[in-house]
Amino acid sequence: MSVRRAVAMGAGAALPERVVTNTELAASVDTTHDWIVERTGIHQRHIAADGQLTSDLATDAARRALAMAGMDVGDIDLIVLATATPDQTFPSTATRVQHNLGMKHGCAFDVQAVCSGFVYALTVATQFIETGKARGAVVIGAETFSRILDWSDRATCVLFGDGAGAVVLRGEDGTGTTDDRGVLSTELRSDGQHNTALYVDGGPSSTGVAGHLRMNGREVFKHAVRNLAEIGEAALATAGLTSDDVSWVIPHQANARIIASTAQKIGVPMERVIVTVQDHANTSAASIPLALDVAIRDGRIQPGDLLLLEAMGGGFTWGAAALRW
Ligand code: UT7
Repeated sequence: MSVRRAVAMGAGAALPERVVTNTELAASVDTTHDWIVERTGIHQRHIAADGQLTSDLATDAARRALAMAGMDVGDIDLIVLATATPDQTFPSTATRVQHNLGMKHGCAFDVQAVCSGFVYALTVATQFIETGKARGAVVIGAETFSRILDWSDRATCVLFGDGAGAVVLRGEDGTGTTDDRGVLSTELRSDGQHNTALYVDGGPSSTGVAGHLRMNGREVFKHAVRNLAEIGEAALATAGLTSDDVSWVIPHQANARIIASTAQKIGVPMERVIVTVQDHANTSAASIPLALDVAIRDGRIQPGDLLLLEAMGGGFTWGAAALRW
């Protein structure tokens, strides 16, 4: 039976030029390189330049993904952009990217699920493609978290970075088996009772200003490993797959310890996990497509590989996707 699949055609990424190492950070924050590495695995992060917006990073990532796909904006009719750090309260950052790309047709909108945003955006775009509502889509995760960090709070400011990643999807007919290329399953969850464990203490309707990120790190950590393992296994089961089928896990890059514990619970050895947290830190919605882009361009991910994407973030939200590249 022929089944419409959302097939990934290309990936792209964009990182601000400025790299801030742990040692550089320790000159202005009461922390050390060793503490950050031991607790998180982070060595450095990229920080956006003054005036460099989330939409600028997103546009560069989208252009690179379209170039890898060998497609242009005429081949897509949807942009779904995941961000918790939009350029403005409105209009959406996605519409700015649409304009930057010179695209005047189709539709563009943002989704907000913080660090799970890319998996949410991928799920939405997949639905559009599988139902025939879109022929092709650009799915973007883009953030400038440096703008919402409290740089006097050492427990959070050392953890995050800026960047963007994108994937281009195209609708293609598959056979309906797990051998098909494209998105084979997605699973999303949220539970709003935990929204004070990881949040921003501002917003248009509450304080009228953007606010700063606040986190109960231990609380998030505890939920992260359990939720990520559960959702990863659920996405595999929905597709009719097991951890033995997984070529690569591409996890949200928040903390190397969370990544390792989750991989162990799912039953995938670390040799098959893409880890970029040391270079990018936590870039929220951008972290999965950034890691994906690295592993495609360095040749680890090959056509036909089965990828398991999994992420968890504020809300709490969490999600996973099984995708044959
Ligand atoms: O992307 C969304 C998902 N977010 C996450 O997944 C983050 C999840 N949480 C974590 O990754 C970890 O909880 C952290 C990396 C945030 C913190 O690691 P931890 O092992 O849970 O440390 P902790 O918060 O329990 O703090 C341990 C100690 C504390 O000192 P005392 O109370 O033991 O004296 C902190 O004050 O480390 C201290 N500390 C620091 N020390 C040096 C906290 N931040 C720093 C710092 N440098 N930057």
